[in-house]
Amino acid sequence: MAGGEAEMMQSKVSLRGVKKIYRGAAGEVTALNGVDLEIKNNEFICVVGPSGCGKSTLLNILAGLDRQTEGEVFVDGRPVDGPSGERGVVFQQYALFPWLTVRQNIAFGLHNKKMPKREIDELVEKYVRMVALEEFLDSYPKELSGGMKQRVALARAYAMNPSLLLMDEPFGALDAQTRAQLQADLLELWEEENKTCFFITHDVEEAVLLAQRVVIMSARPGRISRIVDVDIPYPRTQKTRLNARFTELKNDIWATVYDEYLEDRK
Ligand SMILES: Nc1ncnc2c1ncn2[C@@H]1O[C@H](COP(=O)(O)OP(=O)(O)OP(=O)(O)O)[C@@H](O)[C@H]1O
Ligand SMILES: [Mg+2]
Repeated sequence: MAGGEAEMMQSKVSLRGVKKIYRGAAGEVTALNGVDLEIKNNEFICVVGPSGCGKSTLLNILAGLDRQTEGEVFVDGRPVDGPSGERGVVFQQYALFPWLTVRQNIAFGLHNKKMPKREIDELVEKYVRMVALEEFLDSYPKELSGGMKQRVALARAYAMNPSLLLMDEPFGALDAQTRAQLQADLLELWEEENKTCFFITHDVEEAVLLAQRVVIMSARPGRISRIVDVDIPYPRTQKTRLNARFTELKNDIWATVYDEYLEDRK
């Protein structure tokens, strides 16, 4: 086996020379250009960068919902060629089925797994408790607030037990307390089960709290400008925010993201 192949097999995710060009009303937009990234199994990666730098584009490509124009994308050593239950996706905008109740939304993917009904009910109840919506199991999405809908989307992704979680600003629309709780739940889930997380956020502090490595992207065309190792041990809690190293990393990453933002406005 060639060295490159051996390396690829160790990675959960491999992105090599990924380029994405959109052709739309505004002409051609190069959303990504030359993105290379290796993510190890069980790694927690956060991605930050200015608006429009291609974060969601990258996530959609990893999810198999969109295709790169050039380059290679591997998950578990296999080229991504469409969506898979092994990859759980939480979108920037909650994407629920409006005609299904909370229970039915969370259970949706589990039915495709041909699971016995009792097992499905148990999983739905476990994860609806995690997002504190057990009273709303029979409600429809239109009866829920934006934050509640996003919590249903989280429960739906977690219930599928995917080995790779692809999350696009999942906590962006939530109040600070709910957000803190869901950050803690996600860290616990990640530490207990063998999951790899690819988590996009606008919030540098959230990135430092969650990630082992923070990937900073630059705009136009989107590429990786810098990767920062977060050398703060787990378990991390809200108290980790008080740690001097936390503040140092946060300020350092924030400064780079702001530079990228200014560069984009030139
Ligand atoms: N379907 C599409 N058709 C044409 N252009 C698109 C499409 N989707 C995204 N783009 C363009 O690609 C670029 C990257 O968009 P993307 O949504 O990936 O950015 P982002 O980093 O997720 O931004 P935000 O932080 O605002 O969510 C933008 O310039 C956007 O206009
Ligand atoms: Mg986005």
